[in-house]
Amino acid sequence: MTAAIIDGKAVAADLRLKLADEVSEFTRTTNVQPHLAAILVGEDPASAVYVRNKQKACDKSGIRSTLHRLPDVITEDGLLVLIHQLNNDPSVHGILVQLPLPAHIREQVVLDAVTPLKDVDCFHPENVGLMVQGRPRFLPCTPHGVQQLLLTSGIQVAGSYAVVLGRSEIVGKPMAMMLVQRGAAADATVTVCHSRTKNLADITRQADIIVAAIGKPRFVTADMIKPGAVVIDVGINRVEDKLVGDVDYGPVSEVASAITPVPGGVGPMTIAMLLQNTLTAARLSVGREVHG
Ligand code: GUN
Repeated sequence: MTAAIIDGKAVAADLRLKLADEVSEFTRTTNVQPHLAAILVGEDPASAVYVRNKQKACDKSGIRSTLHRLPDVITEDGLLVLIHQLNNDPSVHGILVQLPLPAHIREQVVLDAVTPLKDVDCFHPENVGLMVQGRPRFLPCTPHGVQQLLLTSGIQVAGSYAVVLGRSEIVGKPMAMMLVQRGAAADATVTVCHSRTKNLADITRQADIIVAAIGKPRFVTADMIKPGAVVIDVGINRVEDKLVGDVDYGPVSEVASAITPVPGGVGPMTIAMLLQNTLTAARLSVGREVHG
């Protein structure tokens, strides 16, 4: 079997076109332009690229973006001052603090300081709680992007056995919660595996859907996959100047029925979902949120 390639780049481009129309309609009827403020601390080149890509995508969709660059010697209090300013600035609808932060800054303290109504990453405990209870204000960008890919690819998620590799707050934990909810691209039976899981391959070999988000290059090998499974690769690892996922793409694509490439799979979807959350935040700011 040779797997169908799930083209995240194309799906994301399609979603962004639709979103640009929605942004334009929102701006026309409210006179409010959705505005994302991104904070980048330090000089990490990969983070700088990610933030630039997010800003470019904002521009193309009619969303205003501003970048606040801070030196890596900034104190935690210095960063919190900026976050409070952005929390209180009515022209800013979404606040994104690019991770990772320098080691002397407590990530949790900083992320908790972002007002929940502007928390477009869905990292604040209030928003995580709402999501877990199945009444989301925002959905976390990467897991939501994965769900949208499953949906647009027509993959049967309801009743399937999904195995999530990784238990991070950004991807693994929320992904598992979202797949187990009632609803579209959900209603799965879910297992979360991590670095302390025993007999990992015995578990993954039973999965109808595998979401790999462990940050280890080519960790998921063909012998870990049930023939015909759907493989979603969230990993972005730099190996000898090349980007590779958490999945050993070539051999696994001979066994799976569908697979996401790296790059061009989940990554572009994460950005599209961030734009959608920024529009949601702008809608919330004018009391026009449509609950679906
Ligand atoms: N760093 C890596 N992924 C992400 C993300 O989704 N959001 C933020 N803010 N930082 C990240």
